[in-house]
Amino acid sequence: MYYIIYFLILIISLTNAQSSTHSFCTQYYPYDSQQQHQQCECEDISPNAISLKCTGHSYVPHFLPNIHYKRIEIESCSQDLQIGDKTFADLNINTLSLRSCNLIGLNEESFSKINHLEKFVIGNSTINSLSTSTGNFQDIFFSDSFKTLKSLTLKNVHYHQIHKHDKKFNLETLFNQLPQLNRLELMNIYLDNYRYHNITTTTVGQHLTYLKLISTHQTSLLPIEYLSSLESLILYRLPEVFRTQPLISSIKKLKKLKYIDFTQNQLVNIDDLQSQTIDQIDLSSNLIETIDEYTFEHVPKLRILTLTKNPLQSIDKNAFCGIENLTRLWINTEKQLHISPLDNCILLSHPTLDIKLDAYTKFQCNCQLVNIFHFKRRYAKEINRLFKPEQACIVTNNTIIEAKNSQQIMKFLNHPINIFELDNFLNCSLDNQCSRLCQERKLKPTTTTLSSNKLQKTNGNVQKKTTSLSTSLYSFFSYTLFLLLFAILYL
Ligand SMILES: *[C@@H]1O[C@H](CO)[C@@H](O)[C@H](O)[C@H]1NC(C)=O
Ligand SMILES: *[C@@H]1O[C@H](CO)[C@@H](O)[C@H](O)[C@H]1NC(C)=O
Ligand SMILES: *[C@@H]1O[C@H](CO)[C@@H](O)[C@H](O)[C@H]1NC(C)=O
Ligand SMILES: *[C@@H]1O[C@H](CO)[C@@H](O)[C@H](O)[C@H]1NC(C)=O
Ligand SMILES: *[C@@H]1O[C@H](CO)[C@@H](O)[C@H](O)[C@H]1NC(C)=O
Repeated sequence: MYYIIYFLILIISLTNAQSSTHSFCTQYYPYDSQQQHQQCECEDISPNAISLKCTGHSYVPHFLPNIHYKRIEIESCSQDLQIGDKTFADLNINTLSLRSCNLIGLNEESFSKINHLEKFVIGNSTINSLSTSTGNFQDIFFSDSFKTLKSLTLKNVHYHQIHKHDKKFNLETLFNQLPQLNRLELMNIYLDNYRYHNITTTTVGQHLTYLKLISTHQTSLLPIEYLSSLESLILYRLPEVFRTQPLISSIKKLKKLKYIDFTQNQLVNIDDLQSQTIDQIDLSSNLIETIDEYTFEHVPKLRILTLTKNPLQSIDKNAFCGIENLTRLWINTEKQLHISPLDNCILLSHPTLDIKLDAYTKFQCNCQLVNIFHFKRRYAKEINRLFKPEQACIVTNNTIIEAKNSQQIMKFLNHPINIFELDNFLNCSLDNQCSRLCQERKLKPTTTTLSSNKLQKTNGNVQKKTTSLSTSLYSFFSYTLFLLLFAILYL
């Protein structure tokens, strides 16, 4: 009994002791809502660290030394913000962020002598005057504080120069200035084109795990293989980079890469992509029309594939062969007719794949769909939940090839028919086109001229059958020939 009381007293005294220790915020940065424009919002982060958010300032406030600032944010300045020499010197700041301010007086010393700087952000800001030695904004990163920097974000930073954009950011120089950099995010600033003869060390950018470049206007990037630790590569609106250098085929050299996002790069295909590590690919808003068979066989770990806003016409039934763990496929297409580009066999071969299509997209009417309908009814086989027997499908010119009476079905061209009624219109032979998936390939065209490729595409359906027949005949003959030879040798 006494023990319990003693224990309670102990707890009470402990909690009292805690609440009576003054927080740094109440002690050093008391917030007075009457004088907001002068002050900074303060937040206690841990027993001995605080974060400050200073809004509407016309000068950089005086920060007390000997405090651990987890974060200092300066936003929406009311006037040009003078950041001259050693503005933040001797402060312990982990994250320094400047947003929506006009900055003046920046030079190499502006951010010098900050201790423990890990993250630096400038967003939505204009640099109105610079006094660095070469007149390039990038010179500010020569300061000692940036030797420990892990994360840099520069978004919508405008700076005025004598010749517009004559002093661009140079990535190689930046990696040398920031040797510990892990994470780099640049948006709407001008990057220098890479000059292929210039790279000076092989350790450039070796710690970088995350690179995001959005509209940085350059036409070439330093060879991506230098960034050997890269895990995420996000390039938006940089179509020239993909045209001028073998970026996609170089990706196989990055042994830690897991995520690529190449949105809005006018890509037509990603045929050269190989990676044993990538598990997420986003190719939204490109110009991809077809996904051929075995497209991702060299990306075996792929789990999530996003192809939204591409003019997709067809996705081959063997498109995803060789990937075991594909779990999500997003293909909203924004097409006029809303015909699913998916080969209907994929509904059978990938019953658990989470496919995201526009709600009004419909399948093409064909014999595969009839077969899937029968499968569902007779064998209660698991079909992708995108398929519902009471849905309608769209009659296309491929449907007409399989019609009992092509005159009759012609009337429905580009119109919907209920899937359960399809039997009345189509003459589906017993052989199931969805069997033997991922077991054989179409014969690759031997001539690579454009015209022969086109020919193959338009006659697709007819040719496919004959080529696969001829390969099997060919292999049959070569097999017997081999047996004969073997017999002769044996004799
Ligand atoms: C820049 O401003 C836009 C709105 O104008 C805002 O959505 C965005 O978060 C801002 N970015 C930064 C880095 O401050
Ligand atoms: C490239 O080399 C030239 C001449 O050696 C040099 O002036 C320039 O600064 C170098 N560029 C980079 C980004 O290192
Ligand atoms: C697929 O997932 C399983 C279970 O998570 C895992 O054991 C297997 O290695 C994965 N396959 C590939 C190719 O990543
Ligand atoms: C099907 O119709 C489209 C236009 O709607 C046409 O481009 C295509 O060549 C036709 N295909 C066949 C096999 O007739
Ligand atoms: C269906 O097709 C087969 C050949 O594939 C043909 O022999 C048969 O007459 C066709 N049936 C109808 C009703 O058109």
